[in-house]
Amino acid sequence: MNKGDILQVEIVGTGMNGEGVAKVDGKVVFVPMTLEGEQVKVQITEDKKAFATAKVIKMLQPSPLRVAPLCPIYFGCGGCEMQHIDYAHQLAIKTNRVADCIRKQCRQDIPVLPTIASPSKWGYRNKVQLPITLVDGKIAVGYFRNGTHKVVPLGKVEDGTLGDCPLHDRAMQEVIDVFLEWANRNDLSVYDETSHRGLLRHFCVRKVGNSFAIVVVVNGNKLPNHNSLIDDFVAHGLSFSLYLSINTDRTNVIYGKCIKTLYGRDTLFDEILGVKVGVSPLSFMQINDGVRDMIYSKVGEIISKSSHSVVFDLFSGVGVMSNIFAKYADKVVGIEIVPDAVRNADTLAKLNGNQDKITNVCGDVTVELPKQIAKYSADKLSDGIVVVDPPRKGCSPEVIDCLLQARPKQIIYVSCNPATLARDMAMLLPKYCVDFVQPYDMFPMTGHVETLVKLTRV
Ligand SMILES: C[S@@+](CC[C@H](N)C(=O)[O-])C[C@H]1O[C@@H](n2cnc3c(N)ncnc32)[C@H](O)[C@@H]1O
Repeated sequence: MNKGDILQVEIVGTGMNGEGVAKVDGKVVFVPMTLEGEQVKVQITEDKKAFATAKVIKMLQPSPLRVAPLCPIYFGCGGCEMQHIDYAHQLAIKTNRVADCIRKQCRQDIPVLPTIASPSKWGYRNKVQLPITLVDGKIAVGYFRNGTHKVVPLGKVEDGTLGDCPLHDRAMQEVIDVFLEWANRNDLSVYDETSHRGLLRHFCVRKVGNSFAIVVVVNGNKLPNHNSLIDDFVAHGLSFSLYLSINTDRTNVIYGKCIKTLYGRDTLFDEILGVKVGVSPLSFMQINDGVRDMIYSKVGEIISKSSHSVVFDLFSGVGVMSNIFAKYADKVVGIEIVPDAVRNADTLAKLNGNQDKITNVCGDVTVELPKQIAKYSADKLSDGIVVVDPPRKGCSPEVIDCLLQARPKQIIYVSCNPATLARDMAMLLPKYCVDFVQPYDMFPMTGHVETLVKLTRV
């Protein structure tokens, strides 16, 4: 097999991101946008030692589970990868993927509950971070085409109107449209990563309650004429705060180190499951409100079953869960690495009257967890609960070791990556048994899945 070869293949499985998998002479070939059971004519786009990738040239026999995507630019855009799959089947793929990862890492068949659907399968994203580009001389925003740095603009720019991304919260489109109209009217330059010239890099919006946190990322130190952008947002009746992120580095990292408030508040406020919440523009928040609430409620329900001397909320973000747990524990210790998020978490504890119960520690969980655990007696720890909600890379081996030493009664693991979840579970399993594994569809139409696991000390 060589790059450029044209072959006829049958799709025999599903890869980690929902892509189809074929086998050619024993080699795995990943074919995006295909489904198990389909017959396709493909062209090899990459031939590596361990696997190859291919693109569809002609669909010969489509699967009955194939559906027409809602988005007109779906096949050219890299923003999502499952719109062509019937939604119930998307859920089944995600359940199987979690089960596969656990089976491979833990070497046992642990039952995985069926993935719970998102309350909204469209319009669920409360946050977007869009690279800014030029299309025929017009400023546009979009998503990077898979595996490239080429921006596919959202919708149709040619006729002057912008289309939409069906995954975005509907209200966000107006914010995007106002910004693009303003940027084009002001004739601003657009950042080019090759020459490292041009001003506008990214346009980011997060919906917090009924307000928007809007961040313009620039390769420079100011946003010219930003007062007229504020006027435009105001004229559209939007409730918002506008921030400038200065990023003059040659980097793929979106935000710069410096962020300035140009209009509105440094923090936006909302309420989640009865907890008052304040969010800075760069603090982590789950992107699907409906599924976030389901997961937080479930974790809260588990913790509410008994009272605890201490609950550890590891990777605590702005501390929403810490405040939910505070009702059922003498003490909650949150550990989070982003200083802004920890500041938000302190404000939240005060806003919710939990400042005496919650301690927010700023630092790396790997470093801070042993120090915090050392403050509690073995008795108190053994009656305690630890909630971990790490980023995609999961927990470090040191964190898992620390948990194995402290032996809390229960560990609740919230994961956005089944591969690292399964790796970490395998290390915990000799000392813990699995009560349930529950995937949630936090990210419909994409290959991602969120999973909640409850473990009890053996
Ligand atoms: C998946 S988010 C979970 C946040 C929070 N539990 C929530 O539900 O909103 C992971 C969080 O871990 C933080 N984080 C990443 N690496 C960390 C580390 N090594 N130590 C502490 N926090 C970390 C991130 O800043 C982020 O807020």
